[in-house]
Amino acid sequence: MSSAIGSAVPERSPAEASFADWMRWHAARIEQALESTLPPASEQPGTLHEAMRYAVLGGGKRVRPLLVLAAGEAVGATPAALEAAGCAVELIHAYSLVHDDLPCMDDDVLRRGKPTVHVAYGEALAMLVGDALQTLAFESLARIAHPAVPRMVAELAAAAGSRGMAGGQAIDLAAAGSAMSPAALEDMHRRKTGALLRASVRLGAVCGAERPAGTDARLDAYAEAIGLAFQVVDDILDVEGSSASLGKTAGKDADHDKPTYVSVLGLEQSRQMAARLHDTALTAIAPLGPPARRLRELADLVVTRNS
Ligand code: IPE
Ligand code: IPE
Ligand code: MG
Ligand code: MG
Ligand code: MG
Repeated sequence: MSSAIGSAVPERSPAEASFADWMRWHAARIEQALESTLPPASEQPGTLHEAMRYAVLGGGKRVRPLLVLAAGEAVGATPAALEAAGCAVELIHAYSLVHDDLPCMDDDVLRRGKPTVHVAYGEALAMLVGDALQTLAFESLARIAHPAVPRMVAELAAAAGSRGMAGGQAIDLAAAGSAMSPAALEDMHRRKTGALLRASVRLGAVCGAERPAGTDARLDAYAEAIGLAFQVVDDILDVEGSSASLGKTAGKDADHDKPTYVSVLGLEQSRQMAARLHDTALTAIAPLGPPARRLRELADLVVTRNS
């Protein structure tokens, strides 16, 4: 994998960079790593490989790989394993989006500002894109040379599976059109979205060789809070954002009668909940000091974003 980065990317060391530069620098590196991990469209079966690249490359905020990198920085981990682990999480995330958009799920036609994968390539291929991205994620994770690889594989598999993201998605589908208690809603959101964000932080953390006592618990508390906050804000943006700014169709949750934080608690209480979770996340990692700077900045991004 090449480590050269594009001319638009600042050359300043990420340690001293502004958060915007830090994000651009790392997002560009993640983009390159994803680009070289995905099979080329020239390799058979070409349409499947082209559709996988369409689903993954050139879009998305890359919040999950950035969390892997930020958690790794917080514990002094070396960058090479972090970048590859970040790519693996992003591949799982991209697969979850392709399947989430299918007609049998949320039936969405716009994602990351482009037609969804099933619109561009057909439903059968979109299903296979998701399958193939998921296995590619675990293949690339398993190839990392780091003693924590077995732990990373287990964390990512648990987060993506029936007790995590896939389970949360099953609850989401079954819940459409019905009332949900705040506790049940929180459980669904922690699974469908929180689990993968939490795994991102854990993957970064386990790359650190010697973590002082209590560090893992602090990072976990941070990740639990921002994982839930992320979906609370997603629910708010579905109501307040525009399709142009989100790059996906706004207003879909109400159209599909989905229980969301906004439908269950209302907009104002949802905003307050996101603010409380942000505070919880920052309090949890306050003892980690300056090395956790990027985690703090990412927590800010999770609640202030508008896309
Ligand atoms: C959208 O995730 C789906 C959810 C889990 C809420 P993101 O908001 O991270 O989507 P991208 O990766 O930036 O497109
Ligand atoms: C999706 O939640 C969570 C996933 C596991 C993909 P949403 O259905 O609310 O995500 P968007 O709004 O379509 O991105
Ligand atoms: Mg959905
Ligand atoms: Mg959706
Ligand atoms: Mg949504």
